[in-house]
Amino acid sequence: MTMQATPPVLTVPGATDELTARLQDGLARVDLLLREVVDHDDPFIAEASGHLVAAGGKRFRPLLTLLAGELAGGINDDVVRAAAGVELTHLASLYHDDVMDEATVRRGVPSANAAYDNSTAILVGDLLFGKASELIAGLGAEAVRIQAQTFVRLCAGQIRDDRPCPPGVDPVDYYLQVLADKTGVLIATAGRYGAMFGGGSARTVEIMRAYGEKVGIAFQLADDLIDIASDTEETGKTPGTDLREGVDTLAVLRAKESADPADARLFELLSRDLSADEAGLREALTLLRAHPALERAREETYAVARAAQRLLDPLPDSDAKAALQALALSVVARVG
Ligand code: IPE
Ligand code: IPE
Ligand code: MG
Ligand code: MG
Ligand code: MG
Repeated sequence: MTMQATPPVLTVPGATDELTARLQDGLARVDLLLREVVDHDDPFIAEASGHLVAAGGKRFRPLLTLLAGELAGGINDDVVRAAAGVELTHLASLYHDDVMDEATVRRGVPSANAAYDNSTAILVGDLLFGKASELIAGLGAEAVRIQAQTFVRLCAGQIRDDRPCPPGVDPVDYYLQVLADKTGVLIATAGRYGAMFGGGSARTVEIMRAYGEKVGIAFQLADDLIDIASDTEETGKTPGTDLREGVDTLAVLRAKESADPADARLFELLSRDLSADEAGLREALTLLRAHPALERAREETYAVARAAQRLLDPLPDSDAKAALQALALSVVARVG
């Protein structure tokens, strides 16, 4: 397997050169703070907690905090601190997610559970969450309360992600709620913090929160499509992980609604445990990639991104607003 660091940041096609330069400067400050915060006296703890920071990642959440800060009044020390706090909270959730999903690759390097072991990955995830809280405590009690509520919702989403849809509940509604909770809420907080600490009005803060949540849902819908459609490790993760773990994402849920007898083979594969059945997994992925449900799920993903864009309509025009509009589409453009 080739190990390759994932690209540093999602590009923001709608940003002017001046805005891009300010965002890059902000991201460099976020990175410095992250590296400082994950350091530890114990060399093993320092290495294990710096493992994923060093591997890169898209830094999507801090980018959103910085952009929301720009929209509200400008990037300052508190916006940078909030952006780093959100990325650390995200990192903590990644250490735990890879244990849950039995993933072996993350950000193009071995995941912490694979590089060390499950106990280390869980404890380092907890440690990073503690570091995130300490950083956010510097922003006041309201910011800490928001982070705490965010993490409770994120964990509830992750718990429900691992459980079957309860009887009597529509599977697509259940799935979309899981997405809003496990992914939407932290991206909502990224936008909310940026607007709060950039000096935005209560109305701007609420618009950025709601926009962040929608963009977060679109982001996870795109991630789930890429897990099926991507053939390579360009994402720095192993494709097919959701099917292997038996997690039904939108394309699978839409395929299961089909009454076409030609889908019998796909249904049979989807009803199997594919965790140790590499040939069955490959075949299911091939059938799904050719299935109209994939295109339908892609269209639904674009519709959520466009709904996020519309939430920005009441804001006055600015470079930051134009960049946020472009950002909403760029997260889903990853799926083609
Ligand atoms: C991974 O998040 C977890 C999801 C919510 C899909 P990212 O795709 O932002 O991962 P990094 O930070 O770029 O590694
Ligand atoms: C995880 O979703 C979301 C969180 C980490 C909260 P996934 O399990 O799809 O994320 P990846 O694909 O492993 O990054
Ligand atoms: Mg995962
Ligand atoms: Mg997961
Ligand atoms: Mg995924």
